[in-house]
Amino acid sequence: MPRLAYVNGRYVPHAQAAVHIEDRGFQFADGVYEVVALMNGRFADEVGHLDRLERSLRELRISMPMPRKALQIVLRQFARRSRLKNAVIYIQVTRGSSPRDFKFPPERRSTLVMTARPVTFGQLVGRKAITVPDIRWKRRDIKTTALVAQVLAKQAAVDKGAYEAWLVDDKGFVTEGSSANAWIVDKSGNLVTRPTQGSMILKGVTRNALQALCKKEKIKIIERAFTPQEAYKAKEAFTTAAVSLVTPIVELDGHKIGSGQVGALTKKILAIYIAYAKNPAQKQERWDSR
Ligand SMILES: Cc1ncc(COP(=O)(O)O)c(C=O)c1O
Repeated sequence: MPRLAYVNGRYVPHAQAAVHIEDRGFQFADGVYEVVALMNGRFADEVGHLDRLERSLRELRISMPMPRKALQIVLRQFARRSRLKNAVIYIQVTRGSSPRDFKFPPERRSTLVMTARPVTFGQLVGRKAITVPDIRWKRRDIKTTALVAQVLAKQAAVDKGAYEAWLVDDKGFVTEGSSANAWIVDKSGNLVTRPTQGSMILKGVTRNALQALCKKEKIKIIERAFTPQEAYKAKEAFTTAAVSLVTPIVELDGHKIGSGQVGALTKKILAIYIAYAKNPAQKQERWDSR
């Protein structure tokens, strides 16, 4: 089965999939994206991801390429035609293709692209991370395709033999991971993660669902910023994102976190999320920007 892509209404072989060189996504990173996990043939947190996609587009005044219902149909068709049951689907929407000019083009025809890759969910591999200054723009609440700061952060991690980079703001607090939300477990066993109010970080859909799930499980989440120094001494640390669900961070800047092994609460959080995402009877959490 050759790999497929969806480009503006057509399902095409991945190797031949293309948008025009004057697509504003290519020229200006003038676009947004979403990543949705497909687990056992079911989209995890589909509602939340589409809520956030619509909001990102609204904030940038890019038109939805089609109504939500139609987008959901395309998502399903794309997954079915790709013959995927466990995968991540990337949805990218740009302000379309037009002669190079910063101002919005008069005609509003967004570009819509979908790609997918198979993923095995549920694996927990302890990862090393480093911290780097957060040099991104100020609207991190929007999931834009302008990701060069994250590219540099991730490469800095790889150059140092690590897997992930945690970004640190001007006041010395961790904002989030290069492509995931950052969490630690404090001495009392509470989860600590940065608040999402304002625009300093992206409000993760996985994070959002976990807030509700942890409440039910009576796991306390404290929303406050923390420093790398506090993280060095934490019992556990991990990141959350649709692509990888939960990634244990067992070393930060060369400091072993807790026992240096994947922690018990980290394992529990993954189990809770997977049970939620795979259960067809489970009502999906809405996502809002607050
Ligand atoms: C900067 C950033 N923060 C957080 C996340 C996690 O968001 P979600 O759980 O919706 O995948 C991502 C995901 O790509 C991200 O890029």
